[in-house]
Amino acid sequence: MDPYKYRPSSAFNSPYFTANSGAPVFNNNNSLTVGSRGPILLEDYHLIEKLAQFDRERIPERVVHARGASAKGFFEVTHDISHLTCADFLRAPGVQTPVIVRFSTVIHERGSPETLRDPRGFAVKFYTREGNFDLVGNNFPVFFIRDGIKFPDMVHALKPNPKSHIQENWRIVDFFSHHPESLHMFTFLFDDVGVPLDYRHMDGSGVNTYTLINKAGKAHYVKFHWRPTCGVKCLLEDEAVNVGGNNHSHATKDLYDSIAAGSYPEWKLFIQTIDPDHEDKFDFDPLDVTKTWPEDILPLQPVGRLVLNKNVDNFFAENEQLAFCPAIIVPGIYYSDDKLLQTRVFSYADTQRHRLGPNYLMLPANAPKCAHHNNHHDGFMNFMHRDEEVNYFPSRYDPVRHAEKYPIPPVVLTGRREKVCIPKENNFKQPGERYRSFDPDRQERFIRRWVDALSDPRVTHEIRSIWISYWSQADKSLGQKLAMRLNVKPNM
Ligand code: HEM
Repeated sequence: MDPYKYRPSSAFNSPYFTANSGAPVFNNNNSLTVGSRGPILLEDYHLIEKLAQFDRERIPERVVHARGASAKGFFEVTHDISHLTCADFLRAPGVQTPVIVRFSTVIHERGSPETLRDPRGFAVKFYTREGNFDLVGNNFPVFFIRDGIKFPDMVHALKPNPKSHIQENWRIVDFFSHHPESLHMFTFLFDDVGVPLDYRHMDGSGVNTYTLINKAGKAHYVKFHWRPTCGVKCLLEDEAVNVGGNNHSHATKDLYDSIAAGSYPEWKLFIQTIDPDHEDKFDFDPLDVTKTWPEDILPLQPVGRLVLNKNVDNFFAENEQLAFCPAIIVPGIYYSDDKLLQTRVFSYADTQRHRLGPNYLMLPANAPKCAHHNNHHDGFMNFMHRDEEVNYFPSRYDPVRHAEKYPIPPVVLTGRREKVCIPKENNFKQPGERYRSFDPDRQERFIRRWVDALSDPRVTHEIRSIWISYWSQADKSLGQKLAMRLNVKPNM
């Protein structure tokens, strides 16, 4: 092997301390000074290098999902779904694929407590033989909005007040009072599952609708769901205050300690599928991310299991520099016209080029583990050593060719250009059904959380009335109870 070509970390094994350039450092304790009491000389290159590197140790945190913890393991197919997809990593029961998973909270900063009421991210990178597949999901199966054009405003409303840097309910209920499509997501966020016990005891979901496509080109819409084998557990308010007060990193610690002790977290993967030929037969739009697909008519089908059996070796390299993107798919899996997914397909790689630099996919945690080749290179921090003379395509000097064609959804797309909402909104039915599925104690906790949020002194009578009207449309008795507790006369 050419020693100048590769620099694995095992090459950093000199028995003595060196500068980054490799030069020996004979004193790492004292700065170079004029006399023993100073001043310090600018020519102390080692000191300057050490401080300069330290000054740049932090990279921008993720604009959302900044707080997270990762672990590695494998995904194993347990059930044959090759009739639905030609994805190589799903080709047969028993096939295992290495994965890295990052769990996260959404709204607050990199060092914020892990006990806050917030959705949790559940992002899985499968290192398959045909490239990486990133299933970038959350612990809830639905989302607040159905069109990504609202995402930056939504995040601004949920994040701390730009003036005080305090998260405030009046800003949240104000923004969402314009968006009744958010009700279903709030039946998760303001339910007990809004504060999971830790990262091991929560569900995961791909949330958006994707497409599975088989060798013959037949497509099915698909939703992905993870179910933990140790069950879903949550923290109630006083428990969360207690746990978070003692350790603001309790979920990171729980994940790390469980794996270190050999108690490996495990989830089962299920899918639900819809034949696109039947997409009109429901009272909801299957591509609307604010909707779940009822399990009684679209049953969960088992696919495989995810086991996390290895902790990260380095948090910065395998958590901070980790980059997931819903656009990263493999043959056999495709996007759908779900408008929120389409926006996400753009946004992640864009933010990562800013957050990590244009060559972020060369970082070891993000790079595919299979052979890969193209001519997208150079730019800041291109550290791939390349020695080809042909960096264009096509060329008669370079044998690289196109990959074999694989199927993509065959639907013919037609329509006028327009900026409109989907026709089948149906914002109230599923939130009402979910609320009614709670037992009375759980309903009471849900109501109490809403009363708390709407009792913020800056919430106006108008906003309270709108929310009461929304919840009444979901469930009449829920609206009445909120109106009574908030002392607002329902105007319906
Ligand atoms: C249009 C809507 C959305 C936009 C524009 C958006 C954008 C983003 C951005 C910019 C990041 C930071 C990525 C990084 O810096 O590496 C992020 C992270 C994340 N998003 Fe979204 N997001 C959207 C909706 C969603 C939805 C619906 C889900 C759940 C299915 C989701 C799950 C996640 C997760 C899990 C992460 C963290 C990934 C990690 O652990 O590194 N997002 N999102």
